[in-house]
Amino acid sequence: MQVVHVSAECYPLAKVGGLADVIGALPKYQQQHKTNAKVIMPFYDTAFIQTHNTATVTEFELTIHQKNYTVSVLQLEEDAMMDTIFLIKIPQLLDRERIYGYEDDVERFTTFQNAVLTWICNWQDLPDIIHCHDHHTGLIPFMTLQCPAYSALKTIPTIFSIHNAQYQGQFSHDKQFLLPEFDHNHVGLLDWDGMINPMAAAIKCAWKVTTVSTSYLQELQKKANGLEHLLAHEKGKSFGILNGIDPDIWNPATDPMIVKNYTMDTFATGKKKNKTWICDSYGLDPEKPLFAFIGRFVYEKAADVLSAAVDAFLTHNKELSVMILGSGSTAIEDELRILQEKYQGNFNVHIGYNEQLSHRIYAGADFLLMPSRVEPCGLNQLYALRYGTIPIVRETGGLKDTVIDMGDDGVGISHRHASIHDIHHSINRALSLYKDTSKYHSIQKKGMKLDHSWNASAQHYKKLYLSVTKN
Ligand code: ADP
Ligand code: GLC
Repeated sequence: MQVVHVSAECYPLAKVGGLADVIGALPKYQQQHKTNAKVIMPFYDTAFIQTHNTATVTEFELTIHQKNYTVSVLQLEEDAMMDTIFLIKIPQLLDRERIYGYEDDVERFTTFQNAVLTWICNWQDLPDIIHCHDHHTGLIPFMTLQCPAYSALKTIPTIFSIHNAQYQGQFSHDKQFLLPEFDHNHVGLLDWDGMINPMAAAIKCAWKVTTVSTSYLQELQKKANGLEHLLAHEKGKSFGILNGIDPDIWNPATDPMIVKNYTMDTFATGKKKNKTWICDSYGLDPEKPLFAFIGRFVYEKAADVLSAAVDAFLTHNKELSVMILGSGSTAIEDELRILQEKYQGNFNVHIGYNEQLSHRIYAGADFLLMPSRVEPCGLNQLYALRYGTIPIVRETGGLKDTVIDMGDDGVGISHRHASIHDIHHSINRALSLYKDTSKYHSIQKKGMKLDHSWNASAQHYKKLYLSVTKN
């Protein structure tokens, strides 16, 4: 079985969030389940890609609406994943420092998808499955079915995985010229609410649709940023398959990014050393329980509510420390800087993206806050569990599916609403737990023991692939 994953992100080459972690890990586990998985992604100018040698696999010219692009397909020369990952280089279009956020993103990603399909069409052995991830690759299921240029791929099943339905990549029909010629009687497959909507097109055209947790799949049928009716309509071909984590990278016993490695037997002392490093570096008191948040400051993550909740809590109770790592909305960044001034010694924030610091926070924090309004799966809570850090989550999406409250014999603390009141209630429960050392340690240990590797999910994907192929 040969599967090709097409994605805009892949760790460690290019990462904005969890999508990269998934694409960096899932193929490795698929190999172990006799699925030969490859990843095709854009060649960006990220630090990782700049500092690694690449070799050219092939080169070709791509013409879209009389515009010519020179495309190179590259492979990493020396890397464990060299045979798995293929990079599409289109000079001046894709090879930029950031992954998203340019004015011409529509042209960047439609051209990327065209380059991917043009290349695959020329393979001697066509893949058994094309597996697309999020809206940047959402036009592929339409194009393989409807564009004569890719008719060689018409019978290849496409799977579309929704990692985040908030972002759908809509653009005006005026830009239809960015797609190769297709039968205009079928233009409705591209359309949602008068726009070309790559996520909607993928949900309509892919042979199967998956989301990254079962609860998120159910939630999407009620609320999906305008696509709820479509998702309800397509529920027969939709499945929830929970993400896993890569335990080779996320392992406190071997993680080279943390200050002190530790195991299930040494976690109390090991975590303390990591906590001391954070507290010394950020002016916090290591004797107090440390609550952390890591993530993008966007509506879905409810970082705005968290900031207000922390402010209100610290006004009357200073028996805790809070450390935040992230970036996003400038309004939230500003609010957090104000809290940094106001609660020196109890609160600090590192604005920006910092992979090493994130590992150190998972290792050193006592509790990880995730009050998300929307969380398709969430990986942070799984990393936290593996590092003996107790997740405090809102019951939504993947958080609901992976974190059972300690009151129900689980490994975390959960609340219903993304509200100040509920966050305060959970923090108070965490503070009581922290004082009960033996209970606290036993919950930490129980969380560390859980197996959230990709094994189970790789098998679910395999079953899904088999349902659409004859192999
Ligand atoms: P999402 O993909 O919605 O951002 P996930 O929980 O799936 O959420 O994954 C987030 C990933 O990004 C995790 O690996 C997390 O550690 C990482 N991450 C998020 N923000 C930062 C940051 N500011 N610095 C370093 N890593 C971050
Ligand atoms: C998205 C979601 C996140 C999920 C990740 C990987 O970015 O927001 O919840 O874990 O994709 O699937």
